This record gives sequence, C-alpha cells and structure tokens, in this order.
Amino acid sequence: MRVLRKVTAVAMASAMVVSMAGCGGGAKETTAAATEAPTTAATEAATEAATEAAAAASEAATEAAAATTGDYADKKVGISIYKFDDNFMTLYRTELERYLTEDLGFKKENITIMDGKNDQAEQTNQIDNFINQGVDVLILNLVQSSSAPSVTDKCNEAGIPVVYINREPDAAEEQRWKDEGIKATYVGADARQSGTFQGEEIAELENHGDANGDGVVSYIMVQGDPENVDAQYRTEYSVKALTDAGVKVEELLKQRGDWDQAKGQQIVQDALTQFGDKIDVVFCNNDAMALGALAAIQAADRKVGEDIYIVGVDALTEAVQNVMEGKMTGTVFNDHISQAKTAADIACDFLNGKDVANVNMVDYVKVTNENAQQILDIVK
Ligand code: GAL
Repeated sequence: MRVLRKVTAVAMASAMVVSMAGCGGGAKETTAAATEAPTTAATEAATEAATEAAAAASEAATEAAAATTGDYADKKVGISIYKFDDNFMTLYRTELERYLTEDLGFKKENITIMDGKNDQAEQTNQIDNFINQGVDVLILNLVQSSSAPSVTDKCNEAGIPVVYINREPDAAEEQRWKDEGIKATYVGADARQSGTFQGEEIAELENHGDANGDGVVSYIMVQGDPENVDAQYRTEYSVKALTDAGVKVEELLKQRGDWDQAKGQQIVQDALTQFGDKIDVVFCNNDAMALGALAAIQAADRKVGEDIYIVGVDALTEAVQNVMEGKMTGTVFNDHISQAKTAADIACDFLNGKDVANVNMVDYVKVTNENAQQILDIVK
C-alpha cells in the first residue's frame, strides 16, 4: 500500500494547532492510504470549514514564515508548468510564487518559472538547464506524466529533489520513489473525488438530471486531455456517481476538449445541433471548457436549471459566479491554494532533510448554489 498524505481544508484548520512542524508550518495530516473514491462526507465537512480553514491557514503560514524567513533566501527553486496558457495552472502558479516569496522568504530572483509550452521536449530541456544551474529543488508540472521515470532518474543522479504537481505519475513510479528512497513526491488531488462530486451534484437534483423527463439522463462528456488521469477519472466517476445513485444514463457523445474553453464551446455547439433537446446534462472535465459550453448553451437558447444542466471542475471565479447566478448547475473547487502551499512546504521539507511521503493529496470541495459565495470569497 502506498503511503499517502491527505491534506484537507478541515485538516488544515484543526491540525494547525498541533502541527507547526515543517518549513512553512502549513499543517499536514498523515493518514494511511484510502485509495477508494472519497464520499460526500468529506465534502460537507470541508465546505463548512472552507472559509475558516483558508483564513486559519494563511494566518498560520504568515506566523510560520516569520519564524523561518531568511532560511531560504539563498535557495534556488526551478519550476516548470506544463503550459502557461491554462486557466487553472495560472492560478496555481501565481499562488505558488506568492507563497514561496511572501510567506516562506524565498527571493524572487531565485525562483525561475518556465513555460513548458505543452511540449515535453521543450520542458525536458528546461529541466536539464535547471540541473546544470544547480537549483536546490524542482517543482514540476510535467507535460507528460509518463516522462516521470526518466526525469526522476536524472534529478536523482544530480541530487536534486523533485516535487511533481497536478499531473500524477503512475502508481508504480510513485512506489519506486518510496522503495528506493528517491527524493521525489507528488502533490495533487484525487480526480476520482472531483468526478464523484460532479455526478452527485446532478444526482442530488430533484429530477436527478432528467431535464426532459424521458426517464434517462442523456449526457455529453467534454473531456480534458484524455492521457491525463484527471480527465480519465473525472469522466469515469461522474457517471459512476449517477449510476450508483440508481439513475439510468445514456452517453450521447464523449469528446476531448483538452481543457480548452474554445474547444469546449465548439464541441457543445455541435452536440446541441446534433442532439438538441435529447441532451439533459453537459459534463465538462474542467471549468474552462464549461464556460465555453455555457456560451454554446446560451447561444442555442437553452436554459440551465430548466431544460439542461452543466457542471465543471476547478472553481474558476467566473464559474463560481455562474453557479451563484444559476447559470451553471455546479462546479468542484480544485484547491490550488492548498496544493500550492503543500507543494512549497514539501519542497522545504526536502531542503531541510525531512522525510516526505511519496503521495500528498488535497481534498476537492463540492460547489453548488448553497456554498458558492463561501468559495468565491476564497478564490477571488
Ligand atoms: C486539472 C485542471 C484542469 C487543467 C489540468 C492541467 O487538474 O482541472 O483545468 O488545469 O489540471 O493538467
């Protein structure tokens, strides 16, 4: 069984008091692995505690930073993001840089953030350059998670620890780090949970998503990059949550939109022309594509909440506002703030020679009309 560190909004709030260890003092809770898809219980608790946790976390981080400022002033961090042109990863990267510099005391000029331009060869070059420059730690959002074994080996040979973020290497690779004592780790969120939450948001509607009342929930699935585990799991678990709730489903279309708003819009525009009123639900693997899909839905004169439903993932500000205004059925908060903090704290743990778990997961939070304002307060 792989060892997995779970970091939740709730855990951050409650564990703060007991655990101020680690470089950022960001509280972390260590649990044995629970690899089954998480349930709603965690969400409800997390939703309630979300605002409080965010405030507590930032307060604690500030206090912890005061205690550690200066320790990292000469440390060099190499960061590569799979591509800058991605809404969610832009929020993540901004928070990561802010936290490293403002809360942990790294110098801005010692942090280099590169754009992988969605090209693994380009990103591999960037990593080679970081190694040649002798950075102290790497934080990598790989273009292709399948390149993790070779990247890990070259960093390991150079004695540079790596924190992988957002795109999860496979379980065998993660296990290898643990078995061989390699200084590499993953920080992310379990995409099965986000898929489950999307499906539950539909299943919990009074008509369980059957907008046209024909007894079957007919959906279209707008996928991210299908090589990405986030896209695979969200696709699978959103539908699973519906069928688990006893809802009859029919897939009208599944198409890749590569996390991209314009592609999402085109796919849904074509699907609306092809399937018309047969479509009850539009599942989008992320909010960028959902925003595109919503534009297509509005252009086709369909009314979300009345004759069609749409859900996304990420909790982009615009999407959360749409949820508040009833223009989107729901989304799921992909907590880039906790993920960025955890990634930075763990990078510091490596720098301080501390033991690091090989997998570190942050909880998602369900976002519906009921808690959208709370989530908006956190993300905006
Ligand atoms: C997902 C996120 C997407 C996209 C993707 C990139 O977690 O929901 O919007 O950013 O990561 O790998």
